[in-house]
Amino acid sequence: MAISVDILDEIPTFAAPAGGCLTEEMVAGFHKAGVLVLRDFMPVAACRRLRQRATELVADFDPAEVRSVFSTTRQTQLDDSYFIDSGDKIRFFLEDDAFNEAGELRQAKEHCLNKMGHAMHDLDPVFDAFSRTPELAELARRVGFVDPVILQSMYIFKPPQIGGEVVCHQDSTYIYTEPESCIGFWFALEDATLENGCMHFIPGGHKLPLKKRNYRKADGKLVTDTLDDTPWPEDRKVAAEAPAGTLVIFDGRMPHLSAANRSAKSRHAYTLHVIDRQCDYPAENWLQRGDTLPLRGFE
Ligand code: FE2
Repeated sequence: MAISVDILDEIPTFAAPAGGCLTEEMVAGFHKAGVLVLRDFMPVAACRRLRQRATELVADFDPAEVRSVFSTTRQTQLDDSYFIDSGDKIRFFLEDDAFNEAGELRQAKEHCLNKMGHAMHDLDPVFDAFSRTPELAELARRVGFVDPVILQSMYIFKPPQIGGEVVCHQDSTYIYTEPESCIGFWFALEDATLENGCMHFIPGGHKLPLKKRNYRKADGKLVTDTLDDTPWPEDRKVAAEAPAGTLVIFDGRMPHLSAANRSAKSRHAYTLHVIDRQCDYPAENWLQRGDTLPLRGFE
């Protein structure tokens, strides 16, 4: 039986509140829509500094070491320990189309990367400083976290020409807790537009069921459980064009997607996935931390 939920036509959008002190209207908008856009949350200079640091990290990366390609359209990283073991490391993932027929990178190394993940916020001082501010700590408290921890960070490159499509999905399918607690914090480091593959959301869609459980460890392999196979109401998707410095927060059940980037401009973004330590984090989740790098919140 199809579940009826109230899909909205707009994403609640505000200027960033001082000190991360979301107003009651903002909090209510977030809970109703499952997504909230805050313009000018991060200073453009901080975004520039993070991009610069990413460039430095990329310079030290040798693509020859990496075979893993990240794609939500085909699960090529299954059984790939480079991906599975990245929860407490800084690793690089190439675009599907990074290599030409001759096996050479199609364009400059930094323009062939899909993402970098998943623990920059705990391993790199510049990423740590960007990820842990009093404003973010206050914002997390106001959206309902009791004991938030930053489970993972991702630097999304969405490079020119070959930036891959991300099909509609819910982040809680990858970052599952009991009860569900994941919220995504998505920062535009460059202007995200329709042209370079901005995010789209289905406002109100966070009240739909969890459709999948992705990358669950079972007998040494990663498996995906389909929990609900009804199609997304993708005709109700709303584009979230976002100037650099914008923060978008969205519920772990929020359906979201982005088109391929065929433009000449990159679309760099940075994301944090935050869960509540009070919830159970199953040992069968794909992303795990070793004992040497404990999870931390925003302090
Ligand atoms: Fe996502």
